[in-house]
Amino acid sequence: MERVHTGIIGLDEMIGGGYPKGRTILILGTTGSAKTILGVSFIHKACQEGRKSLIIATEELPEDIIAQSESVGMSFEKFKTDGILAIEKIYEERTTHAKEILAYGIDDSDRLQSNIIGLLDRISADIDSVLIDNIGVFTLNMSPNEFRAQIDSLVVGLTKRNITAVLIMDTSADSRTENIASYSVYGVLRTSIKDNPFTGSRERLLEVLKIRNTKISLEPMRFEITSKGIELMKK
Ligand SMILES: Nc1ncnc2c1ncn2[C@@H]1O[C@H](COP(=O)(O)OP(=O)(O)OP(=O)(O)O)[C@@H](O)[C@H]1O
Ligand SMILES: [Mg+2]
Repeated sequence: MERVHTGIIGLDEMIGGGYPKGRTILILGTTGSAKTILGVSFIHKACQEGRKSLIIATEELPEDIIAQSESVGMSFEKFKTDGILAIEKIYEERTTHAKEILAYGIDDSDRLQSNIIGLLDRISADIDSVLIDNIGVFTLNMSPNEFRAQIDSLVVGLTKRNITAVLIMDTSADSRTENIASYSVYGVLRTSIKDNPFTGSRERLLEVLKIRNTKISLEPMRFEITSKGIELMKK
């Protein structure tokens, strides 16, 4: 199976050479645990290799994602200018929509809130790599069955188009929703911040929960965020 770089030094070797090409990976994690930086590292690498990429931002202004990426050593300016990177601003659409609801009483909040499958229509035919940050927002007013149907359709749609995708889901979603999403996808990573009882300090951890068709280590890896991005710590 062909692999693509994760953009994190040391991670590729630990998961059989990189993310499986044309498959979907899910990143789970609590707030501030570096989900976005992990996802963006993959897109930055794809852009460097000249593969057309798309970031779908559902919960944050794309400008903020880009600015934070700059601060950890990943610049996207050139890629945006060259048309290698495209950005879909769902967050802004949602906030505009919320204003409409408040001002005119128009309430078809289903339109953006419950349409995971609709994200496929936003991915143009030439796109190779996609980051969706974050799908957690879509689960808020969806039944587990509906979420399962939608996430399955999204993953099948992406896979049929041979798109390598990273989906981010924050842990505001309940554990049942996390499990549903985890079954659908080809691989799952988790980022977290934990107390180390031995040192008394807080540390960042990255776990590989599953990658189909791949030998993985289940040992959590410590990492730091530096001006060069995510750096895995040597054991
Ligand atoms: N330049 C930097 N140097 C060191 N650490 C940084 C830098 N920029 C951001 N961070 C750290 O990274 C964390 C945020 O990472 P990121 O946005 O990827 O997390 P997230 O899990 O996506 O968070 P959210 O729940 O807000 O989506 C910040 O809380 C901060 O601690
Ligand atoms: Mg984030």
